[in-house]
Amino acid sequence: MKDLTPNKADLDPIEIASRDEIAALQLERMKSTLAHAYNNVPFYKQKFDEAGVHPDDLKSLSDLSKFPFTVKTDLRDNYPFGMFAVPREQVSRIHASSGTTGKPTVVGYTKNDIEMWSSVVARSLRAAGVRKGDILHNAYGYGLFTGGLGAHYGAEALGCSVVPISGGMTSRQVQLIQDFQPHAITVTPSYMLAILDEFRKQGVDPRESSLQVGIFGAEPWTNATRLEVEQAFDMHAVDIYGLSEVIGPGVANECVETKDGLHIWEDHFYPEIINPETGELVEEGEEGELVFTSLTKEALPIIRYRTRDLTRLLPGTARSMRRMEKITGRSDDMIILRGVNVFPTQVEVQVLAVEGLAPHFQIELIHHGRMDGMIVHVEATKDAASDDARAQSAKLLSKKIKDNIGVSAQVITKEPGGVPRSQGKAVRVIDNRAEGQG
Ligand code: DLL
Repeated sequence: MKDLTPNKADLDPIEIASRDEIAALQLERMKSTLAHAYNNVPFYKQKFDEAGVHPDDLKSLSDLSKFPFTVKTDLRDNYPFGMFAVPREQVSRIHASSGTTGKPTVVGYTKNDIEMWSSVVARSLRAAGVRKGDILHNAYGYGLFTGGLGAHYGAEALGCSVVPISGGMTSRQVQLIQDFQPHAITVTPSYMLAILDEFRKQGVDPRESSLQVGIFGAEPWTNATRLEVEQAFDMHAVDIYGLSEVIGPGVANECVETKDGLHIWEDHFYPEIINPETGELVEEGEEGELVFTSLTKEALPIIRYRTRDLTRLLPGTARSMRRMEKITGRSDDMIILRGVNVFPTQVEVQVLAVEGLAPHFQIELIHHGRMDGMIVHVEATKDAASDDARAQSAKLLSKKIKDNIGVSAQVITKEPGGVPRSQGKAVRVIDNRAEGQG
């Protein structure tokens, strides 16, 4: 793999500023964000008043903990535009979550917000090793999802030639990668694995592809998958994080030279970690739920937004800004099986450790008698697809899950191609527990 470390001179000065400079900027911006939200969004005024706090009470960054949290249902309750802090005419873009349960979550951006967003995505791509002039193949979905357009505008701002292919049509993805010779690809990690399968299906050696770096996010993925993809393509695999309520992709990104967690672009997004049960701040470095306050957003200032994502904060390394550890999972995705907490990422690590298994998997939860149970659906690689080999790999994975995670799981190893592929975010857990009860 090529060394893609960016030149120090190309970084935004704030990326390597002193902690004091960063904190001073954050305090100034936090004050004006709280006032902007309070003065322009009735929801925030009411929430602050009820909690007996006023934007003027913020004298230091730590005073933020006096302010109330915002949660996803608050956005739903104010559907569609009730959280906007500017007249609707000043909103130049609207995105929304898919809203599988209930109403979608709507987010808005002014022209300045789009510019800020593009600048943090450009910064993220540069940190990942993308340069002005590079061709970037953008396979994040375009549309209401923030991944496609978010990555697109950021890549343009950096000066890339962007290929807006979006998700899907996997054989065409491989064709265009061969024809256009992109340096970088932006895509969910699970869809990258589907693209990898397609390379092999077409008999094209992925290590011969032009790709030097992939910027993967929008769903949890582990260092085991990083290794798998880096070896398969002979390219860097770098993590990008974000969520629509906070802006979209580009809230935090790994640096290609260290790959040691994601630097949070703290000049625009202020992180806190709380105990998800009590809502109290945890000790420095402890794991908990990530909470964000926007510092510069106009259309949708967001105060202490509970992401449900679990991680810990770490000091800066390649940049002065703090890092968040690779995300373990969302508290919503945590499976509690006979008292043991299980995250799909833990299963991912075990699947990747078994030879003869492809890196695709799905977890099915069932209700069996009076107990909950877990079935892990995996698939064999082409050279390990005989009945015998599949029985072996199932047995081995089941043992690994028991030994390393501490739960009993039934494993079903399917034929190659037997586990459904995602074209965006993978569906990792199918909950069929209600069906077994009766
Ligand atoms: O997924 C934005 C995005 C697009 C990020 C492209 C990165 C790349 P939402 O659809 O609002 O926005 O979903 C946000 O996805 O709260 C996390 O649970 C999860 N997520 C996003 N990035 C990562 C990541 C986009 N790198 C939700 N690792 C977040 C783990 C991630 N989970």
